[in-house]
Amino acid sequence: MSLLPDAYLDEFSEPAGYVNYASIGPVSRRVRSVVDALLAEIASAEGALADAILPRYEEAVGAIAGFMGVPATHATPLPMTSAGLFQVAFGLLGSGGNVVVPAGEFPANVYPWLRAAEAGGPEVRWVEAPGGRLTPDVVAAAVDGATRAVALSLVGFETGFRADLDGMREAAGDALLVVDAIQGLGAVHRGIGPADVMVAGGQKWMRAGWGSGVMAVSDRALDRLSPALCGWLGVEEPMATAVPPPHPAAAGAGRYQEGTPPIVGAFQFAAAVEVAGLAGIEAISTVVHHRVAELEQVLRRAGADIRAPWASPAERAGILCFRLPGAEPAATTAHLLDAGLIVSHRGDWVRLSPHATTPPEAAGMLAEALGVPA
Ligand SMILES: Cc1ncc(COP(=O)(O)O)c(C=O)c1O
Repeated sequence: MSLLPDAYLDEFSEPAGYVNYASIGPVSRRVRSVVDALLAEIASAEGALADAILPRYEEAVGAIAGFMGVPATHATPLPMTSAGLFQVAFGLLGSGGNVVVPAGEFPANVYPWLRAAEAGGPEVRWVEAPGGRLTPDVVAAAVDGATRAVALSLVGFETGFRADLDGMREAAGDALLVVDAIQGLGAVHRGIGPADVMVAGGQKWMRAGWGSGVMAVSDRALDRLSPALCGWLGVEEPMATAVPPPHPAAAGAGRYQEGTPPIVGAFQFAAAVEVAGLAGIEAISTVVHHRVAELEQVLRRAGADIRAPWASPAERAGILCFRLPGAEPAATTAHLLDAGLIVSHRGDWVRLSPHATTPPEAAGMLAEALGVPA
């Protein structure tokens, strides 16, 4: 019996060989229909649109916050991961000190820190993770009394290594723990957990589509991150134009908005949360791990070199990188694409990233493409 209810599986229709969720997650029927309905409503322009739509936007924010395990005041929709990381990086301007960032992070978790440092923000302290093992001891060694934030990915986009957030919380000491969760949220993880800030675009494992995302914050983050990039809709009374700006920033996470929040994106993300809820993240995560293990067995039979920085299942998520001896990863990627397997080429590796809706058939397709028994 499948761990996943039909109501969840029926939401999706991607081809069996689609194993590229670390790049883009095909969206559910529900996400599509919510967007279609919303745009149809806007097109029809019957009545005051904002009055009709904004209360439902607030409900969507509530649902997203629930998924992140925070009150609605502590979550705000994002149009992309970077928007939240820029808010954090610029929120630390004037605080001096340093931020600790792993070397080899996806660039979305690099530019905000570099740009903020150029603008006089904390110096960036890069930390090497030997063999891709981004463990708490590695981070702790780079943290000192002047560290304002530790900013890392929940799951490495090229290594597939999953960070131990409780350990990272301790390693960060008094500094804010900032987590880019895009490579795990919705597949192997939900909730802010011990982080101070968790940001994630919805376009990958959440399957919410581009233009959606979330930023969830702790009380400490609200206290410490100045609303440096807070724009007109991030303030308490945006339309009180008789009072010259700047107005006080909103008390909650809504202060981390530069203008109109991504309203359509919030509807997308909330619909994706509902769909994930049909199965539950625990069941989704269990199946993701099964699918990765099946693909890994095939790769081992094919004699592949597997990038495996993990020492235990807890350090794994949905990403599996490999290369075949004597073959260029680009050529392997092209060969797999020809065989109907949609994969990515990242650096010296081919990256496979199945989701819970990937059927066991994908491993059979991989075996056939690599000429080994299924
Ligand atoms: C770890 C990580 N963070 C962020 C992103 C994307 O950032 P954004 O949503 O800002 O485009 C990606 C991939 O596109 C990623 O792999």
